Amino acid sequence: MNATPQSPGDHPDGLMDKLVSLAKRRGFIFQSSEIYGGVGSVYDYGPLGIELKNNIQSRWWREMVHGHANIVGLDAGILMNPEVWVASGHVGAFSDPLAECLSCHRRFRTDELTDLEAGRADDQQCSVCGATGKWSEPKQFNLMFKTFMGVVEGESSTVYLRPETAQGIFVNFRNVMDSSRLKVPFGIAQVGKAFRNEITPGNFVFRTREFEQMEMQFFIEPGTGGYWFQEWRAWRMEWVRSLGIRPDRLRFHDHGPDELAHYCAEAVDIQYRFPFGWQEFEGIHNRTDYDLSAHQEHSGKKLEYIDPAAGKRFIPHVIETSAGLSRLLLVVLADAYTEEEVDGAARTVLKLHPSLAPVRAAVFPLIKKLGMPEIAEKLAAELRRQHNVFFDVAGSIGRRYRRQDEAGTPFCVTVDGQTVEDETCTIRHRDTLEQVRVPLSGVGQWIAAAVAASPTST
Ligand code: GAP
Repeated sequence: MNATPQSPGDHPDGLMDKLVSLAKRRGFIFQSSEIYGGVGSVYDYGPLGIELKNNIQSRWWREMVHGHANIVGLDAGILMNPEVWVASGHVGAFSDPLAECLSCHRRFRTDELTDLEAGRADDQQCSVCGATGKWSEPKQFNLMFKTFMGVVEGESSTVYLRPETAQGIFVNFRNVMDSSRLKVPFGIAQVGKAFRNEITPGNFVFRTREFEQMEMQFFIEPGTGGYWFQEWRAWRMEWVRSLGIRPDRLRFHDHGPDELAHYCAEAVDIQYRFPFGWQEFEGIHNRTDYDLSAHQEHSGKKLEYIDPAAGKRFIPHVIETSAGLSRLLLVVLADAYTEEEVDGAARTVLKLHPSLAPVRAAVFPLIKKLGMPEIAEKLAAELRRQHNVFFDVAGSIGRRYRRQDEAGTPFCVTVDGQTVEDETCTIRHRDTLEQVRVPLSGVGQWIAAAVAASPTST
Protein backbone atom coordinates (compact mmCIF):
# COMPACT_ATOMS: atom_id res chain seq x y z
CA MET A 1 0.00 0.00 0.00
CA ASN A 2 1.13 3.56 -0.66
CA ALA A 3 0.62 6.37 1.81
CA THR A 4 1.01 9.96 0.63
CA PRO A 5 1.99 12.14 3.59
CA GLN A 6 0.92 15.78 3.95
CA SER A 7 3.76 18.22 3.39
CA PRO A 8 6.09 18.13 6.39
CA GLY A 9 5.91 21.09 8.75
CA ASP A 10 2.40 22.17 7.69
CA HIS A 11 -0.71 21.50 9.69
CA PRO A 12 -3.80 20.37 7.78
CA ASP A 13 -6.34 23.14 7.10
CA GLY A 14 -8.77 23.77 9.97
CA LEU A 15 -6.71 21.58 12.30
CA MET A 16 -8.07 22.94 15.59
CA ASP A 17 -11.70 22.23 14.62
CA LYS A 18 -10.69 18.79 13.39
CA LEU A 19 -8.88 18.05 16.66
CA VAL A 20 -11.83 19.15 18.79
CA SER A 21 -14.11 16.91 16.75
CA LEU A 22 -11.79 13.88 16.76
CA ALA A 23 -11.09 14.33 20.47
CA LYS A 24 -14.81 14.15 21.24
CA ARG A 25 -15.67 11.43 18.72
CA ARG A 26 -12.90 9.09 19.87
CA GLY A 27 -13.09 9.83 23.62
CA PHE A 28 -9.96 11.91 24.16
CA ILE A 29 -11.42 15.17 25.48
CA PHE A 30 -14.95 16.34 26.34
CA GLN A 31 -16.27 19.71 27.41
CA SER A 32 -16.85 19.67 31.17
CA SER A 33 -20.49 19.33 32.33
CA GLU A 34 -21.56 19.23 28.70
CA ILE A 35 -25.14 18.14 29.41
CA TYR A 36 -25.59 21.43 31.31
CA GLY A 37 -24.14 23.51 28.50
CA GLY A 38 -20.54 23.24 29.72
CA VAL A 39 -18.55 25.44 32.06
CA GLY A 40 -16.07 28.11 30.98
CA SER A 41 -12.91 26.54 29.68
CA VAL A 42 -12.72 23.34 31.69
CA TYR A 43 -12.29 19.99 29.95
CA ASP A 44 -12.67 16.33 30.89
CA TYR A 45 -10.36 13.60 29.64
CA GLY A 46 -12.11 10.52 28.27
CA PRO A 47 -10.88 6.91 28.06
CA LEU A 48 -8.24 7.62 25.39
CA GLY A 49 -7.36 11.08 26.73
CA ILE A 50 -6.53 9.87 30.22
CA GLU A 51 -4.28 7.12 28.79
CA LEU A 52 -2.43 9.67 26.65
CA LYS A 53 -2.10 12.09 29.57
CA ASN A 54 -0.85 9.33 31.89
CA ASN A 55 1.69 8.21 29.30
CA ILE A 56 3.08 11.75 28.86
CA GLN A 57 3.20 12.19 32.62
CA SER A 58 4.93 8.87 33.15
CA ARG A 59 7.57 9.66 30.50
CA TRP A 60 8.19 13.00 32.30
CA TRP A 61 8.42 11.34 35.73
CA ARG A 62 10.77 8.68 34.42
CA GLU A 63 13.00 11.31 32.85
CA MET A 64 13.00 13.82 35.69
CA VAL A 65 12.73 11.71 38.86
CA HIS A 66 13.85 8.17 38.06
CA GLY A 67 16.45 9.43 35.58
CA HIS A 68 18.28 11.61 38.15
CA ALA A 69 19.82 10.38 41.40
CA ASN A 70 19.41 13.87 42.89
CA ILE A 71 15.74 14.57 42.01
CA VAL A 72 12.85 13.30 44.13
CA GLY A 73 9.06 13.54 43.87
CA LEU A 74 6.37 15.25 45.90
CA ASP A 75 2.58 15.49 45.91
CA ALA A 76 1.46 18.57 47.85
CA GLY A 77 -2.11 19.70 48.56
CA ILE A 78 -3.95 22.03 46.21
CA LEU A 79 -5.23 24.13 49.12
CA MET A 80 -2.49 25.82 51.11
CA ASN A 81 -2.22 28.34 53.92
CA PRO A 82 -3.20 31.67 52.28
CA GLU A 83 0.00 33.27 53.63
CA VAL A 84 1.88 31.17 51.05
CA TRP A 85 0.37 33.29 48.28
CA VAL A 86 1.08 36.55 50.08
CA ALA A 87 4.73 35.52 50.48
CA SER A 88 5.06 34.25 46.91
CA GLY A 89 3.80 37.57 45.54
CA HIS A 90 0.72 36.06 43.88
CA VAL A 91 -1.77 38.01 46.02
CA GLY A 92 -0.04 41.26 45.09
CA ALA A 93 1.24 40.64 41.58
CA PHE A 94 -0.51 37.71 39.87
CA SER A 95 -2.93 39.83 37.92
CA ASP A 96 -3.76 41.12 34.46
CA PRO A 97 -4.87 44.70 33.78
CA LEU A 98 -8.45 44.80 32.46
CA ALA A 99 -10.52 47.57 30.90
CA GLU A 100 -14.30 47.44 30.70
CA CYS A 101 -16.39 48.49 27.72
CA LEU A 102 -18.83 50.95 29.32
CA SER A 103 -21.42 50.11 26.69
CA CYS A 104 -21.72 46.28 26.95
CA HIS A 105 -19.73 45.83 30.20
CA ARG A 106 -17.47 43.12 28.79
CA ARG A 107 -13.92 43.18 30.16
CA PHE A 108 -10.79 42.80 28.07
CA ARG A 109 -7.11 42.40 28.78
CA THR A 110 -5.52 45.73 27.92
CA ASP A 111 -2.83 44.02 25.83
CA GLU A 112 -5.66 43.03 23.47
CA LEU A 113 -6.74 46.68 23.11
CA THR A 114 -3.98 48.08 20.94
CA ASP A 115 -5.39 51.61 20.52
CA LEU A 116 -6.06 51.96 24.22
CA GLU A 117 -2.55 50.72 25.04
CA ALA A 118 -1.13 53.28 22.63
CA GLY A 119 -2.96 56.08 24.48
CA ARG A 120 -5.75 56.37 21.86
CA ALA A 121 -8.67 55.21 24.01
CA ASP A 122 -11.07 57.34 21.92
CA ASP A 123 -10.30 55.21 18.84
CA GLN A 124 -10.55 51.83 20.56
CA GLN A 125 -13.53 49.83 19.36
CA CYS A 126 -15.20 47.07 21.38
CA SER A 127 -14.97 43.78 19.51
CA VAL A 128 -18.24 42.56 21.09
CA CYS A 129 -20.72 45.46 20.79
CA GLY A 130 -18.84 47.75 18.37
CA ALA A 131 -18.97 50.85 20.61
CA THR A 132 -15.96 53.14 20.18
CA GLY A 133 -14.11 55.14 22.81
CA LYS A 134 -16.17 54.04 25.82
CA TRP A 135 -13.67 52.50 28.21
CA SER A 136 -13.15 52.37 31.96
CA GLU A 137 -9.71 53.01 33.47
CA PRO A 138 -7.75 49.72 33.46
CA LYS A 139 -7.92 47.81 36.76
CA GLN A 140 -5.79 44.93 38.03
CA PHE A 141 -7.67 41.60 38.10
CA ASN A 142 -6.16 38.81 40.21
CA LEU A 143 -6.15 35.44 38.44
CA MET A 144 -6.38 33.26 41.56
CA PHE A 145 -9.62 31.45 42.38
CA LYS A 146 -10.80 32.09 45.92
CA THR A 147 -12.84 29.76 48.05
CA PHE A 148 -13.67 29.38 51.75
CA MET A 149 -12.40 26.82 54.21
CA GLY A 150 -14.59 25.72 57.12
CA VAL A 151 -18.16 26.66 57.81
CA VAL A 152 -17.89 30.44 58.07
CA GLU A 153 -17.39 32.54 54.96
CA GLY A 154 -15.23 35.60 55.32
CA GLU A 155 -11.78 37.07 54.90
CA SER A 156 -10.30 34.92 57.67
CA SER A 157 -11.45 31.68 56.00
CA THR A 158 -10.46 32.64 52.43
CA VAL A 159 -8.16 30.14 50.71
CA TYR A 160 -6.94 29.99 47.11
CA LEU A 161 -6.83 27.22 44.55
CA ARG A 162 -3.12 27.08 43.72
CA PRO A 163 -2.21 28.89 40.48
CA GLU A 164 1.08 26.94 40.20
CA THR A 165 2.32 23.72 41.78
CA ALA A 166 5.74 25.22 42.52
CA GLN A 167 4.83 26.76 45.90
CA GLY A 168 3.99 23.32 47.32
CA ILE A 169 7.62 22.43 46.61
CA PHE A 170 9.07 25.60 48.16
CA VAL A 171 7.15 25.24 51.41
CA ASN A 172 8.24 21.58 51.66
CA PHE A 173 11.87 22.35 50.88
CA ARG A 174 13.10 21.62 54.42
CA ASN A 175 10.87 18.58 54.94
CA VAL A 176 12.11 16.93 51.76
CA MET A 177 15.76 17.90 52.19
CA ASP A 178 15.92 16.70 55.81
CA SER A 179 14.00 13.46 55.25
CA SER A 180 15.87 12.51 52.07
CA ARG A 181 19.33 13.77 53.16
CA LEU A 182 19.79 15.54 49.84
CA LYS A 183 22.78 17.72 49.07
CA VAL A 184 22.74 20.79 46.84
CA PRO A 185 22.35 20.64 43.87
CA PHE A 186 19.11 18.64 44.07
CA GLY A 187 15.60 18.83 42.66
CA ILE A 188 12.01 18.26 43.76
CA ALA A 189 9.44 17.37 41.10
CA GLN A 190 5.67 17.43 41.18
CA VAL A 191 2.71 16.90 38.84
CA GLY A 192 -0.67 18.30 39.71
CA LYS A 193 -3.62 20.55 39.08
CA ALA A 194 -3.37 24.32 38.95
CA PHE A 195 -6.16 26.87 38.54
CA ARG A 196 -6.24 30.34 36.99
CA ASN A 197 -9.27 32.48 36.39
CA GLU A 198 -8.01 33.30 32.89
CA ILE A 199 -9.68 36.30 31.27
CA THR A 200 -9.25 35.04 27.75
CA PRO A 201 -9.06 31.26 27.81
CA GLY A 202 -9.23 29.49 24.49
CA ASN A 203 -7.82 27.38 21.72
CA PHE A 204 -9.27 24.20 23.19
CA VAL A 205 -7.05 22.91 26.03
CA PHE A 206 -4.29 25.43 25.30
CA ARG A 207 -5.46 27.97 27.89
CA THR A 208 -7.97 26.66 30.39
CA ARG A 209 -9.00 27.63 33.89
CA GLU A 210 -8.18 24.22 35.38
CA PHE A 211 -5.06 22.50 34.06
CA GLU A 212 -2.14 20.34 35.09
CA GLN A 213 1.49 21.25 35.48
CA MET A 214 4.66 19.15 35.64
CA GLU A 215 7.16 21.24 37.58
CA MET A 216 10.63 20.70 39.00
CA GLN A 217 12.54 23.06 41.26
CA PHE A 218 16.30 22.54 41.18
CA PHE A 219 18.04 23.94 44.29
CA ILE A 220 21.56 25.20 43.65
CA GLU A 221 24.39 27.18 45.16
CA PRO A 222 24.16 30.97 44.65
CA GLY A 223 26.33 32.03 41.73
CA THR A 224 25.69 28.85 39.70
CA GLY A 225 22.29 29.93 38.28
CA GLY A 226 23.64 30.87 34.85
CA TYR A 227 25.27 27.46 34.40
CA TRP A 228 22.27 25.39 35.54
CA PHE A 229 19.83 27.53 33.55
CA GLN A 230 21.73 26.65 30.36
CA GLU A 231 21.94 22.97 31.28
CA TRP A 232 18.22 22.65 31.96
CA ARG A 233 17.32 24.63 28.87
CA ALA A 234 19.19 22.10 26.70
CA TRP A 235 17.99 18.99 28.60
CA ARG A 236 14.35 19.98 28.44
CA MET A 237 14.41 20.59 24.68
CA GLU A 238 16.12 17.22 24.21
CA TRP A 239 13.35 15.51 26.16
CA VAL A 240 10.58 17.24 24.21
CA ARG A 241 12.20 16.03 21.02
CA SER A 242 12.33 12.51 22.44
CA LEU A 243 8.52 12.51 22.37
CA GLY A 244 8.78 12.56 18.59
CA ILE A 245 7.63 16.20 18.17
CA ARG A 246 8.78 17.56 14.80
CA PRO A 247 11.90 19.68 15.40
CA ASP A 248 10.89 22.31 12.82
CA ARG A 249 7.82 23.09 14.95
CA LEU A 250 9.90 23.70 18.10
CA ARG A 251 11.93 26.71 19.15
CA PHE A 252 13.19 28.66 22.16
CA HIS A 253 11.91 32.10 23.05
CA ASP A 254 14.08 34.08 25.49
CA HIS A 255 12.15 36.52 27.67
CA GLY A 256 13.02 40.19 27.42
CA PRO A 257 13.02 42.28 30.63
CA ASP A 258 9.39 43.40 30.10
CA GLU A 259 8.17 39.78 29.76
CA LEU A 260 9.67 38.37 32.97
CA ALA A 261 7.29 37.14 35.70
CA HIS A 262 7.57 38.85 39.08
CA TYR A 263 9.79 36.05 40.48
CA CYS A 264 12.15 35.63 37.52
CA ALA A 265 15.68 36.85 36.78
CA GLU A 266 15.96 34.92 33.51
CA ALA A 267 13.45 32.86 31.53
CA VAL A 268 13.13 30.95 28.30
CA ASP A 269 10.04 29.33 26.79
CA ILE A 270 9.97 26.21 24.69
CA GLN A 271 7.42 27.04 22.02
CA TYR A 272 5.48 24.95 19.52
CA ARG A 273 4.19 26.21 16.19
CA PHE A 274 0.45 25.62 16.70
CA PRO A 275 -2.00 26.34 13.87
CA PHE A 276 -2.68 29.61 15.76
CA GLY A 277 1.02 30.57 15.91
CA TRP A 278 4.13 30.02 18.03
CA GLN A 279 3.17 29.56 21.68
CA GLU A 280 4.85 28.41 24.88
CA PHE A 281 4.16 25.04 26.49
CA GLU A 282 7.13 24.91 28.88
CA GLY A 283 9.21 27.51 30.67
CA ILE A 284 12.65 27.29 32.25
CA HIS A 285 13.03 29.98 34.89
CA ASN A 286 15.86 31.28 37.03
CA ARG A 287 13.89 32.12 40.19
CA THR A 288 17.04 33.03 42.17
CA ASP A 289 16.37 32.87 45.96
CA TYR A 290 13.16 34.88 45.48
CA ASP A 291 10.75 32.24 46.81
CA LEU A 292 12.78 30.65 49.62
CA SER A 293 13.81 34.09 50.93
CA ALA A 294 10.23 35.31 50.82
CA HIS A 295 8.97 32.22 52.66
CA GLN A 296 11.76 32.45 55.22
CA GLU A 297 10.82 36.04 55.92
CA HIS A 298 7.04 35.48 56.05
CA SER A 299 7.06 32.19 57.98
CA GLY A 300 9.93 33.04 60.31
CA LYS A 301 11.35 29.55 59.65
CA LYS A 302 14.94 29.11 58.48
CA LEU A 303 15.09 27.84 54.91
CA GLU A 304 18.85 27.66 54.61
CA TYR A 305 21.07 24.92 53.37
CA ILE A 306 24.05 24.08 55.51
CA ASP A 307 27.10 22.55 53.92
CA PRO A 308 29.24 21.44 56.88
CA ALA A 309 32.07 20.11 54.68
CA ALA A 310 32.59 23.49 53.02
CA GLY A 311 31.55 25.40 56.14
CA LYS A 312 28.89 27.28 54.16
CA ARG A 313 25.32 28.28 54.88
CA PHE A 314 23.07 29.85 52.27
CA ILE A 315 19.54 30.12 50.89
CA PRO A 316 19.66 28.06 47.69
CA HIS A 317 18.82 29.60 44.35
CA VAL A 318 16.35 27.78 42.10
CA ILE A 319 16.13 26.84 38.46
CA GLU A 320 12.58 25.81 37.64
CA THR A 321 11.32 23.73 34.73
CA SER A 322 7.59 24.21 34.33
CA ALA A 323 5.57 22.37 31.70
CA GLY A 324 1.82 22.34 31.19
CA LEU A 325 0.75 18.69 31.00
CA SER A 326 -2.59 19.44 29.34
CA ARG A 327 -0.92 21.94 27.01
CA LEU A 328 1.78 19.44 26.08
CA LEU A 329 -0.98 16.95 25.34
CA LEU A 330 -2.35 19.45 22.81
CA VAL A 331 1.14 19.76 21.29
CA VAL A 332 1.37 15.97 21.01
CA LEU A 333 -2.10 15.69 19.42
CA ALA A 334 -1.57 18.59 16.99
CA ASP A 335 1.79 17.20 15.94
CA ALA A 336 0.50 13.67 15.47
CA TYR A 337 -2.64 14.55 13.50
CA THR A 338 -2.07 13.57 9.88
CA GLU A 339 -4.29 13.38 6.83
CA GLU A 340 -3.08 11.26 3.97
CA GLU A 341 -4.22 9.27 1.03
CA VAL A 342 -3.86 5.50 1.01
CA ASP A 343 -4.55 3.78 -2.30
CA GLY A 344 -6.82 6.61 -3.36
CA ALA A 345 -8.78 6.75 -0.08
CA ALA A 346 -8.37 9.47 2.57
CA ARG A 347 -7.28 8.40 6.02
CA THR A 348 -6.87 10.34 9.27
CA VAL A 349 -4.17 8.99 11.51
CA LEU A 350 -2.62 10.08 14.80
CA LYS A 351 1.08 9.34 14.41
CA LEU A 352 1.71 9.30 18.14
CA HIS A 353 4.99 8.00 19.44
CA PRO A 354 4.28 4.33 20.37
CA SER A 355 5.31 5.00 23.98
CA LEU A 356 2.56 7.65 24.24
CA ALA A 357 -0.25 5.97 22.27
CA PRO A 358 -3.33 5.38 24.48
CA VAL A 359 -3.78 1.88 23.07
CA ARG A 360 -0.56 0.01 22.32
CA ALA A 361 -2.13 -2.75 20.22
CA ALA A 362 -5.54 -3.74 18.87
CA VAL A 363 -6.37 -7.40 18.34
CA PHE A 364 -8.89 -8.46 15.69
CA PRO A 365 -10.22 -11.79 14.50
CA LEU A 366 -10.52 -11.45 10.71
CA ILE A 367 -14.01 -12.99 10.78
CA LYS A 368 -16.38 -14.09 13.53
CA LYS A 369 -16.05 -17.82 12.86
CA LEU A 370 -13.68 -20.80 12.44
CA GLY A 371 -12.37 -20.31 15.99
CA MET A 372 -10.75 -16.96 15.18
CA PRO A 373 -12.54 -14.89 17.87
CA GLU A 374 -11.53 -17.36 20.59
CA ILE A 375 -7.86 -17.37 19.53
CA ALA A 376 -7.85 -13.56 19.27
CA GLU A 377 -9.46 -13.14 22.69
CA LYS A 378 -6.91 -15.43 24.28
CA LEU A 379 -4.07 -13.51 22.60
CA ALA A 380 -5.51 -10.17 23.76
CA ALA A 381 -5.73 -11.45 27.34
CA GLU A 382 -2.06 -12.51 27.24
CA LEU A 383 -0.91 -9.21 25.72
CA ARG A 384 -2.79 -7.23 28.39
CA ARG A 385 -0.20 -8.33 30.97
CA GLN A 386 2.38 -6.21 29.15
CA HIS A 387 0.48 -3.67 27.04
CA ASN A 388 -2.77 -1.71 26.89
CA VAL A 389 -4.77 -3.74 24.38
CA PHE A 390 -8.10 -3.20 22.63
CA PHE A 391 -10.16 -6.10 21.24
CA ASP A 392 -12.58 -5.50 18.37
CA VAL A 393 -14.72 -7.87 16.31
CA ALA A 394 -17.18 -5.35 14.87
CA GLY A 395 -17.18 -4.25 11.21
CA SER A 396 -14.96 -4.93 8.24
CA ILE A 397 -11.24 -5.27 8.88
CA GLY A 398 -10.63 -2.04 6.92
CA ARG A 399 -13.07 -0.12 9.16
CA ARG A 400 -11.43 -1.54 12.26
CA TYR A 401 -7.98 -0.46 11.03
CA ARG A 402 -9.27 3.09 10.32
CA ARG A 403 -10.77 3.39 13.80
CA GLN A 404 -7.42 2.46 15.34
CA ASP A 405 -5.56 4.86 13.02
CA GLU A 406 -7.69 7.70 14.42
CA ALA A 407 -6.96 6.57 17.97
CA GLY A 408 -3.23 6.47 17.22
CA THR A 409 -2.83 2.73 17.91
CA PRO A 410 0.59 1.80 16.51
CA PHE A 411 0.01 -1.94 16.03
CA CYS A 412 -3.01 -3.96 14.85
CA VAL A 413 -2.77 -7.72 15.30
CA THR A 414 -5.05 -9.85 13.11
CA VAL A 415 -5.93 -13.48 13.64
CA ASP A 416 -6.90 -15.06 10.29
CA GLY A 417 -7.40 -18.41 8.60
CA GLN A 418 -3.70 -19.18 8.60
CA THR A 419 -3.54 -18.62 12.38
CA VAL A 420 -5.90 -21.54 12.88
CA GLU A 421 -3.47 -23.74 10.93
CA ASP A 422 0.00 -22.56 12.00
CA GLU A 423 -0.45 -20.33 15.09
CA THR A 424 0.90 -17.20 13.41
CA CYS A 425 -0.83 -13.82 13.03
CA THR A 426 -0.18 -10.55 11.22
CA ILE A 427 0.93 -7.28 12.80
CA ARG A 428 0.14 -4.13 10.81
CA HIS A 429 2.22 -1.05 11.46
CA ARG A 430 0.12 2.15 11.66
CA ASP A 431 2.56 4.46 9.86
CA THR A 432 4.20 2.28 7.22
CA LEU A 433 1.12 0.04 6.74
CA GLU A 434 3.53 -2.87 6.44
CA GLN A 435 2.35 -6.24 7.72
CA VAL A 436 4.56 -8.92 9.18
CA ARG A 437 3.64 -12.48 10.16
CA VAL A 438 4.67 -13.43 13.70
CA PRO A 439 4.06 -16.53 15.88
CA LEU A 440 1.26 -15.96 18.41
CA SER A 441 3.68 -16.70 21.23
CA GLY A 442 6.05 -13.93 20.09
CA VAL A 443 3.62 -11.01 19.61
CA GLY A 444 4.12 -9.42 23.06
CA GLN A 445 7.91 -9.43 22.70
CA TRP A 446 7.71 -8.22 19.11
CA ILE A 447 5.62 -5.21 20.15
CA ALA A 448 7.86 -4.39 23.13
CA ALA A 449 10.93 -4.49 20.87
CA ALA A 450 9.22 -2.31 18.24
CA VAL A 451 8.33 0.32 20.87
CA ALA A 452 11.88 0.28 22.25
CA ALA A 453 13.30 0.62 18.73
CA SER A 454 11.04 3.56 17.81
CA PRO A 455 13.20 6.58 17.12
CA THR A 456 13.65 8.84 20.15
CA SER A 457 12.00 6.33 22.48
CA THR A 458 13.14 6.02 26.10
N1 GAP B 1 5.67 27.88 38.13
C1 GAP B 1 5.88 28.70 36.99
C2 GAP B 1 4.69 28.86 36.17
O1 GAP B 1 3.60 28.49 36.55
P1 GAP B 1 3.86 29.73 33.85
O2 GAP B 1 4.65 30.15 32.65
O3 GAP B 1 2.84 30.66 34.38
O4 GAP B 1 4.95 29.40 34.95
C3 GAP B 1 3.97 27.21 33.21
O5 GAP B 1 3.19 28.33 33.55
C4 GAP B 1 3.27 26.35 32.20
O6 GAP B 1 1.96 26.00 32.66
C5 GAP B 1 3.04 27.03 30.85
O7 GAP B 1 4.16 26.89 30.00
C6 GAP B 1 1.85 26.25 30.31
O8 GAP B 1 2.28 25.08 29.67
C7 GAP B 1 1.08 25.89 31.56
N2 GAP B 1 -0.06 26.82 31.74
C8 GAP B 1 -0.06 28.04 32.31
N3 GAP B 1 -1.28 28.58 32.28
C9 GAP B 1 -2.09 27.67 31.67
C10 GAP B 1 -3.48 27.64 31.33
N4 GAP B 1 -4.30 28.63 31.66
N5 GAP B 1 -3.97 26.54 30.69
C11 GAP B 1 -3.14 25.51 30.37
N6 GAP B 1 -1.84 25.49 30.68
C12 GAP B 1 -1.31 26.55 31.32
